[in-house]
Amino acid sequence: MTEGSALAAGRGEMDGEHRVQMSLIFALEQALESGLGKDGVKDLVTQLIAFTNVHFMSEQLLMRFAAYPDIGMHEAEHDGLMDQLRRIESSFVLGDSRMMISESQVLRHLLVEHIRTHDLFFSQYLSDSAA
Ligand SMILES: [Fe+2]
Ligand SMILES: [Fe+2]
Repeated sequence: MTEGSALAAGRGEMDGEHRVQMSLIFALEQALESGLGKDGVKDLVTQLIAFTNVHFMSEQLLMRFAAYPDIGMHEAEHDGLMDQLRRIESSFVLGDSRMMISESQVLRHLLVEHIRTHDLFFSQYLSDSAA
């Protein structure tokens, strides 16, 4: 499975946002590995948190509109992912870039798994409801 197909939850706007999320994580990992300055890393962490938060809110709003029955479980997943983002932020505050890299890798794996399961289930629910 290619990275592109792994990220395809099946709806254009959701897929586009997932690609932005993954690009931001990738950019953060690259920045940490190449030793980018503190301000640059801080900007990437801030953007990643802000974008992810907006993306999760928009998915959850769509779930409410669509009366999605598994919204509770999906929101709990989002909360867990936001917790992981806060771990990255805490490592940044501690100035621990090794820890930031490993926490970012954990986030990347969790997020890919979330997109190919929970987001895909929701996308399929939307398609079924529209049919
Ligand atoms: Fe998503
Ligand atoms: Fe989601």
